[in-house]
Amino acid sequence: MRIDLSEIGMLKGQQYETIITTKDTAGNSNAAPIGIICRGNDKVMCRIFKGSTTLDNIISQKEFIVNISHDPLLFTWSLLDNLQKEDFSKDNSIKDIDCYFKCKVTSLKEAVKQSDPIRKKSEAIVIKADVVDLTVNRAVKVYNRAFSYVLESLVHMSRINIVDEKQQKEYLDRLKEAYRVVKKVGSKKDKEAMDNIKNKLNE
Ligand SMILES: Cc1cc2nc3c(=O)[nH]c(=O)nc-3n(C[C@H](O)[C@H](O)[C@H](O)COP(=O)(O)O)c2cc1C
Repeated sequence: MRIDLSEIGMLKGQQYETIITTKDTAGNSNAAPIGIICRGNDKVMCRIFKGSTTLDNIISQKEFIVNISHDPLLFTWSLLDNLQKEDFSKDNSIKDIDCYFKCKVTSLKEAVKQSDPIRKKSEAIVIKADVVDLTVNRAVKVYNRAFSYVLESLVHMSRINIVDEKQQKEYLDRLKEAYRVVKKVGSKKDKEAMDNIKNKLNE
């Protein structure tokens, strides 16, 4: 079966928010929200910080499943608590998920990036993988968070002249963060929108 991630809206070079499910050596299932970058029709990569169960499981099993959903609760439960045992299907995807694909790891590389806002020097592993199976239960497009940031930025911008100084500073900080994220994960249009917002603010 030929796999083409563009079927679910994944474009080369773009990052999407997903939920990765993995298993440990004892067969216990784990779920965590992770950003996935599309590298081509059937190739993906992600960067996972050391210390997570997901990374340990991927290193030991050399495989993982990418679950696609727009359900805010699934993302929240995956992050705050692990999902329950009964939330996983036999093949370790999330039960009744809109769409999922299975990945086999092709390379694991140490990555240290100085520009992450979390720590001065954050240690992570870059994982490259081939997609070996794609299941679409319901037509769904993968989620990219840049557009939400563009909309939020427009809302802040529309209010910036009618709030007090303290609030203005808060909005400007949020706009800066939005600019950083959109430049990292956005499409050409998202980035252009943020540049327009920045230029307008600089006037
Ligand atoms: C939308 C979203 C995207 C995320 N993307 C990543 C990512 O790309 N890499 C990463 O290391 N952590 C990412 N995280 C944070 C992990 O989900 C978080 O560290 C989680 O606690 C790991 O869980 P685990 O220990 O069960 O694997 C993301 C979180 C959210 C909410």
